[in-house]
Amino acid sequence: MAEQNNNLVIAIDGHSSCGKSTAAKQLAKKLNYTYIDSGAMYRAVTLFSIQNNLVNGDVVDIDGLKNSIDNIKIHFTFDEENQRYLTWLNNVIVEDEIRTIEVSDKVSPVSKIGFVRSKLVKLQQDLGKTGGIVMDGRDIGTVVFPNADVKIFMTASVDVRAKRRFDELIAKGDKVSFNEVEKNIAKRDYIDQNREIAPLKQADDAIVIDNSFLTREEQLQKILNIVNN
Ligand code: DC
Repeated sequence: MAEQNNNLVIAIDGHSSCGKSTAAKQLAKKLNYTYIDSGAMYRAVTLFSIQNNLVNGDVVDIDGLKNSIDNIKIHFTFDEENQRYLTWLNNVIVEDEIRTIEVSDKVSPVSKIGFVRSKLVKLQQDLGKTGGIVMDGRDIGTVVFPNADVKIFMTASVDVRAKRRFDELIAKGDKVSFNEVEKNIAKRDYIDQNREIAPLKQADDAIVIDNSFLTREEQLQKILNIVNN
């Protein structure tokens, strides 16, 4: 049984800024699994699009991005010293750049493009094929790993999520208003849930966790109970 558990595929989907990545990282550490942040991949493609003037407001230069898509190389490493995962875009660490409000603002129109999704879904499936992974995102339990061993759908109220993301950005020194952050989250929820390809939705066999009133520890315990069962 213990041997089998080393290879589980654990999918954590849910709304923007609901603490999926915190939970997924804690869980991966506890189980000694690899953590993969699929949202970071969509963010990296968005950063590439901004850097190459392929996105203007909410409008993406689809042909331009299509022509460049094969030049986008994304990988992850773990920084032991600072105990954090790093996202690389074409051999440059972009972990901080992909978390700005500008990228958050433009990531939804980029992530609804079909050829962007197929490229990233394939990369996610390759990274997960040996098991022993926790991957978080929007379509992990529905599209990327429909046969995942454990599927969790996380959520929290828009207010709670906006407050958490706002505190995080302010702590990093970003100059944002609470209103701006709340609007961004509500807008991303809408686009993520209503896009044509792989919209955010709860898999039929996912277990829902609303963490609006849970501490990180309580949340981790809940997930560990699910995994152990
Ligand atoms: O998890 P995140 O907030 O960092 O994700 C950023 C955006 O990427 C999110 O608004 C929607 C998109 N995304 C997606 O479409 N599919 C995924 N599997 C992960 C993220």
